[in-house]
Amino acid sequence: MNRDDFECLNNDLIYFDNGATTLKPNCVVQKMVDYYTKYTSNIHRGDYNNAIKTNKEYDSVRTLVKDFIHAKSEREIVYTSGATESLNMIVFGFFQNKLSSDDEILLDVAEHASNILPWQVLENKGIGKVKYIDLDDNHELTLDNIKKAVTEKTRVISIAHISNVIGDIRDIEEIGKYCKENNIYFVVDASQSVGHINVNVDKSDVSFLAFSGHKMLAPTGVGILYGKEELLEEMEPLKYGGGMNQSFETDGTYILKEIPIKFEAGTPPIAEVIGLGEAIKYIENIGIDKIHEHEYNLKKYLVSELEKIPNIILYNKNSKSGILAFNIDGVFPQDTSIYLNNYNIAIRAGNHCAKELKEELNIKNTCRVSLHLYNTKEELDVLIDALKQSENIFKVVI
Ligand code: ALA
Repeated sequence: MNRDDFECLNNDLIYFDNGATTLKPNCVVQKMVDYYTKYTSNIHRGDYNNAIKTNKEYDSVRTLVKDFIHAKSEREIVYTSGATESLNMIVFGFFQNKLSSDDEILLDVAEHASNILPWQVLENKGIGKVKYIDLDDNHELTLDNIKKAVTEKTRVISIAHISNVIGDIRDIEEIGKYCKENNIYFVVDASQSVGHINVNVDKSDVSFLAFSGHKMLAPTGVGILYGKEELLEEMEPLKYGGGMNQSFETDGTYILKEIPIKFEAGTPPIAEVIGLGEAIKYIENIGIDKIHEHEYNLKKYLVSELEKIPNIILYNKNSKSGILAFNIDGVFPQDTSIYLNNYNIAIRAGNHCAKELKEELNIKNTCRVSLHLYNTKEELDVLIDALKQSENIFKVVI
């Protein structure tokens, strides 16, 4: 699927580390080069032609993002540096002022560090109590288990849409409905889902949603914080400075701009925002459902072939995204990763920043294949053959 659009694939690279970051199509790179070579200027500050062009390009991306995630208004779309910043803004800009010491925050152990650590820091400040929802026998998160974990003190549920190791797709429409009925704030980390499956903040009735551009074919350094308009109105900025204020005086009074601009202090990542817009257009041109079907079909093929190799352990064969966690029995995952590099195959080995998953999987580290639209069955065959020959791994690695 459209492999020629990705310059990085020209050297026979087999890139299976899309959960960490995706490759960028040429149109995204070119769009950024055009900004840097043809009309560089700051935004919302100049009255000359290049500044007007930059404003137009930059501002129009907000509408693209709004439509892409089915938000109601551009006012609900905040540009950030990535999902990590978005989640920190949600926790410290909103919930820090909202929760009391007894209020419960429900997470699960498969969450990425950026959706656990900010909550733990908040709890350590004496605000909120972090509790964990049990995962099922496949290490997946279910609505049934969410219901079991909820008490009358539950105020927040904060979960990934797709876990970055287990790859299970959480039914955020059902969970959002349940949260609404029970008056619970619903926070979604969509880092591993945007660009892979449809994300609909309206149907899912999410309070806040966070994602990064670089995991969806866009540049690094840009991300999105979605928040319901009435919640963003209540949220405090974590950064103050130029661009976000209406006025400030020597007597200490100041007036901030309206949402979402009041959260965007300083010069933003202009080229990156413009690149993000191009990535959205690229994904929409292909079709999000087609991308998901392609990735899931590839995963099913990979599982069926790896199940035939006796010394391969699979941790999440049932989950329905393009993510597969595995190990070669008795082999340290990083050795597997180094071994596969000899075949020009890029995977990720480690705990994948989901450091609380170790007791659940009974192992600290795994190898992870995470697929995207440009991956092929032929590439998987190279991986499968390499793993079949893995009895030679230490001859190659050492
Ligand atoms: N969160 C990224 C990953 O899962 C870095 O690899």
